[in-house]
Amino acid sequence: MEKTQALDALAKTCAACEKCALCQTRTNVVFGRGSENASLLFIGEAPGENEDKTGLPFVGAAGKLLDRYLAYAEIGEDDYYIANILKCRPPHNRDPLPAEEEACIPYLREQLAILQPKIIVCLGRISAMRIISPDFRITKQHGQWFENGGVKIMAVYHPAALLRDPRKKEEMLLDFKKIREAMLAL
Ligand code: URA
Repeated sequence: MEKTQALDALAKTCAACEKCALCQTRTNVVFGRGSENASLLFIGEAPGENEDKTGLPFVGAAGKLLDRYLAYAEIGEDDYYIANILKCRPPHNRDPLPAEEEACIPYLREQLAILQPKIIVCLGRISAMRIISPDFRITKQHGQWFENGGVKIMAVYHPAALLRDPRKKEEMLLDFKKIREAMLAL
């Protein structure tokens, strides 16, 4: 099956998902967006208010800031795909509950199997703890490359963290420079 068809089928399954209580409060399931042929996959935490409204990941304030780093690293629309650990918004943007992550993560794993990215970038601590290691320390380990089955994996600060603490912006630029270099080396 082609990637498009496989992703469409999975998106339909997700749209009907009732595996956790977030299905009762969501407006839209936020499946993912971007180029299915991209070698770079960003993984965020969970949809926020704007994402829940539109059904698209990273379209609010954090997404706008992320766009600036993408532009800095010359990462275009065709170069990446973006999704979240959770596909539905937690009420009041609280952290995902372990049971919600457990229920939702198989969908992300299926997306990964379809997309087969060569580089994965976790946006923030929650994503890094789930994808890289449960004891991941974002302040110490952001910008470091890890490797799993031939896939390069890095975590960077969540763009929302930069909105709260602009002093982290310099480090974010350095991390995005590394992502750029890794893409050029593919
Ligand atoms: N924050 C996330 O982690 N994901 C989104 O889609 C939006 C904000």
